[in-house]
Amino acid sequence: MSENEHTPPHVKWFRDSSPYINAHRGRTFVIHVDGAGLDHDNFPLIIQDIVLLHSLGVRIVLVHGATPQINRQLEQRGIVSESAEGIRITTAEMLPHVQEVVGRLRSDIESMLSMGATNSPQHGADVAVVSGNIIRARPLGVRDGIDFHNTGEIRRVNADLIARLLSMRTLLLVSPLGYSLSGQMFNLHGSALAADVAVALGADKLIYLASDNGVPDTDGTVITELQADSIDPSDYPAYSPVAQAREACSRGVPRCHLISFRDDGSLLEELFTRDGIGTQITEISYEQIRSAAADDISGIMELIAPLEANGSLVKRPRETLETEISRFLVIERDGMVVGCAALFPYDTHAELACLATHPEYRNDNRGEALLAATEANARTLGVKTIFVLTTHTAEWFTDHGFVPGGTTDLPREKRALYNYQRNSRVLIKTL
Ligand SMILES: CC(C)(COP(=O)(O)OP(=O)(O)OC[C@H]1O[C@@H](n2cnc3c(N)ncnc32)[C@H](O)[C@@H]1OP(=O)(O)O)[C@@H](O)C(=O)NCCC(=O)NCCS
Repeated sequence: MSENEHTPPHVKWFRDSSPYINAHRGRTFVIHVDGAGLDHDNFPLIIQDIVLLHSLGVRIVLVHGATPQINRQLEQRGIVSESAEGIRITTAEMLPHVQEVVGRLRSDIESMLSMGATNSPQHGADVAVVSGNIIRARPLGVRDGIDFHNTGEIRRVNADLIARLLSMRTLLLVSPLGYSLSGQMFNLHGSALAADVAVALGADKLIYLASDNGVPDTDGTVITELQADSIDPSDYPAYSPVAQAREACSRGVPRCHLISFRDDGSLLEELFTRDGIGTQITEISYEQIRSAAADDISGIMELIAPLEANGSLVKRPRETLETEISRFLVIERDGMVVGCAALFPYDTHAELACLATHPEYRNDNRGEALLAATEANARTLGVKTIFVLTTHTAEWFTDHGFVPGGTTDLPREKRALYNYQRNSRVLIKTL
């Protein structure tokens, strides 16, 4: 049975999100909320959403900023703060204030995370939060004649320790303070800190929650996807989320997301819907066709289950998939299997089977790309003709160079297995 107009929207939403829930489980996300985000009315809701992600098995490192809060405190004490190259010059006089403000923010966030999600089943959920001396820092030093004093940069992130803590289902809270080997304390820029932590951890995602939502187009519309190498760093301030995301991508973080804390639920919308809400920046095209591995079996099953149910595809139990997995190609997008195809060679013939793309990702040539990749594989195996047995999709194959055939055109082994009840059409293509 398929969904109809009576399907409640929340049921549809939940069903549509399930592939993302599976794709995100066990992944490591570094989330940065800048100081303005901590001040915003939505921050308690962001904390709830972070707790929700944590409960879904996402490994979370939360990095926070503190700029407006430090500015306020310095102003109250009549201390003038200067910056250069987009970063504060933290003098010795300022340091105790930075320490006080950051310490207070850290304990405020810890207490909010301890509360979990109020008015929800997660209220009182035990989220273990750890923060500590995981960042080794060094002074930024003197640059272009400007002494940055106690403003620092990251020297080393204790990634082993973080990974161990995350594997214990601990949520890590990282504040913009780092310590040198001699015990000196340095004020760090939160967005650069988040990028460094993501790189050191080999995180799957780096997410910036800032005032602006994503990168706008020339007409002001948010660009959904951007490749890192298409961003000109000179267009953005060095410590801006765009510049840091670009940098993080070039240093191996596969996906960075720029969203706004002003939009309630932006984190969930970005992570659990097809196009998200903000801008996703990726190192390379974030979709790739590749050979399937055992880890893809659940994703393939999820993709083909509805097609098996409506008779478009032959049922393949998990055990069959386990033995056949090396025959499959998949399209992976953002950790999710959105397309697959299998090739079963019989000497110079081969069967193309189980070609499918996720309904939300159709009509963008993914089917064609899977067919082309499968044909290329077939050629390398010395296959001369490929055939397909199809009940619903004959026209698609004829549009792609297949011609009608009969059961007598099938290799003998396959003919013996031909299921007359399915009454599939046989289509053949000469390579
Ligand atoms: C067939 C299928 C793999 C195509 O995936 P896709 O990613 O949309 O493929 P492409 O983008 O390359 O092709 C889309 C084009 O094919 C057309 N198309 C899709 N299904 C079709 C069908 N059953 N018959 C004829 N044309 C079809 C679309 O209208 C579109 O045409 P357009 O570009 O002129 O608008 C996908 O529809 C699917 O998963 N179907 C269900 C599974 C199935 O039947 N598999 C084949 C059995 S082995």
